[in-house]
Amino acid sequence: MKPKNCLIFGASGQIGRNLIRRLTKSNIRVTAVTRNIHQKGYLLKTQANPGFLEIVEGNIFDLSLLEKLFKSADFCINLIGILYEKRKGDFKKIHCDFPKMLSILSSKNNISKFVHLSALGVEDAVDSLYAQSKFAGEKEIISNFKESIILRPSVVYSVDDNFTTNFMTILNLLPFFPLYYKGNTKFKPIHCSELTDFISKIITTNINERIIECVGPEEISLKEIVQKLLKSIQKKRILIPMPLFFAKISAKIFEIFPKPLLTSDQLRLLKYDNLPSGKYKTNLDFGFQKNLKFDVEVQKYSYMWRNEGEYSKNEKTMHKEIK
Ligand SMILES: NC(=O)c1ccc[n+]([C@@H]2O[C@H](COP(=O)([O-])OP(=O)(O)OC[C@H]3O[C@@H](n4cnc5c(N)ncnc54)[C@H](OP(=O)(O)O)[C@@H]3O)[C@@H](O)[C@H]2O)c1
Repeated sequence: MKPKNCLIFGASGQIGRNLIRRLTKSNIRVTAVTRNIHQKGYLLKTQANPGFLEIVEGNIFDLSLLEKLFKSADFCINLIGILYEKRKGDFKKIHCDFPKMLSILSSKNNISKFVHLSALGVEDAVDSLYAQSKFAGEKEIISNFKESIILRPSVVYSVDDNFTTNFMTILNLLPFFPLYYKGNTKFKPIHCSELTDFISKIITTNINERIIECVGPEEISLKEIVQKLLKSIQKKRILIPMPLFFAKISAKIFEIFPKPLLTSDQLRLLKYDNLPSGKYKTNLDFGFQKNLKFDVEVQKYSYMWRNEGEYSKNEKTMHKEIK
C-alpha cells in the first residue's frame, strides 16, 4: 500500500523523535520541519528508514513554504510549544497564531486529520500566560477545522525529556531541593512511548474526538516525584517547602537566565493540579494504556545520575578486578 504523508512541526523534540519512529514503522512517510537543519538534522535523520523521512528547514511562519508542504500532506501534527517567552508575545505567536495558520491550511487542503499538542489543565489555569495562550490556540483550531484532534497530556517523561533528567541533575548538584506549594501539586505523568503510541493510533484509526486528555496510570505529587527520583539515583537530599514569597523572588531571579529553571508564569501554573478534568475523554477511554509505572521506567535510565554511573547497574560487576 502506498504510504500516506504526515507533516510534523516540532519533530525534533522529545515527543517528535519518538513519534517519527512509531509512524514510519506503521508505513507512514514523515516530513519533519525544523528551524535549523544543521543543528537538528543528525538528530532527526536517524529516526526512520531511508525513504520514510524528509527533513525540511524553514521558518514556521513562511506561508508559501507551508502552502507547498500542505499540498502533499494527508495528516499534520503540531508539536511546537514553548515553556517561557524569549520576547513578549512569543506565547501568542507559537501557541495561538501558528496553530491557527495550520488549522486554516488543514481545512483549505482538506487533509484527513490535524493533531495538535496542547497541555492538561490549560482551561483552569486562568492566571498563566502559557496555559491561556494554549487554550486560545485550541479555540482557533476547533473553529477552523473540524477534523482536528487536540491532545492535552500531563507531564511527559522519558530518557530524552527535560523534566526527570533536569530534576536528577539538580538533585545531584544541590544538598537540598525547594518544594513549591509544599510539593503538593498532583500529576499523572505519561511515558513518552505511551503518548506516541496513542498519537500513532489516532493517525491510523478512526479516533475522531475533538479534545482528549492524555495521562499515565499513577497520580503522583511533585514531592513524591522528587522522592522517587532521589530513590532511583540513590541520593538523600533535604526537601525544603519554599514560602511563596521566596519562590516568587527566586523565579524573578531565574528569569534573568537564557534558559530559566523556573519562571513566574510556571510558578503560577504549578499551583494547579495536573489531573484529568472529567469533562473530556482520556486515552484510557480508548482502551489505551500500557500501564508504564513512573519509577520502573525512570529506573531504566537514572543510573547515570548515581555516584557509580553505569557501574551501579549491577553491583556484582562493580570494582571487579581481572584475575
Ligand atoms: N514534554 C511535556 O512534558 C509536555 C507536556 C504537555 C504538553 N506538551 C506539549 O507537547 C508538544 C511537544 O512537546 P516536546 O516536549 O516534544 O517539545 P519540545 O521538545 O520542547 O519542542 C519541540 C520542538 O518545537 C520546536 N520549537 C521550539 N521552540 C520553537 C520556536 N520558538 N519556534 C519554532 N519552533 C520551535 C523545536 O524544533 P526545531 O528546533 O527543530 O525547530 C523543538 O524541538 C508541545 O506543544 C508541548 O507544549 C509537552
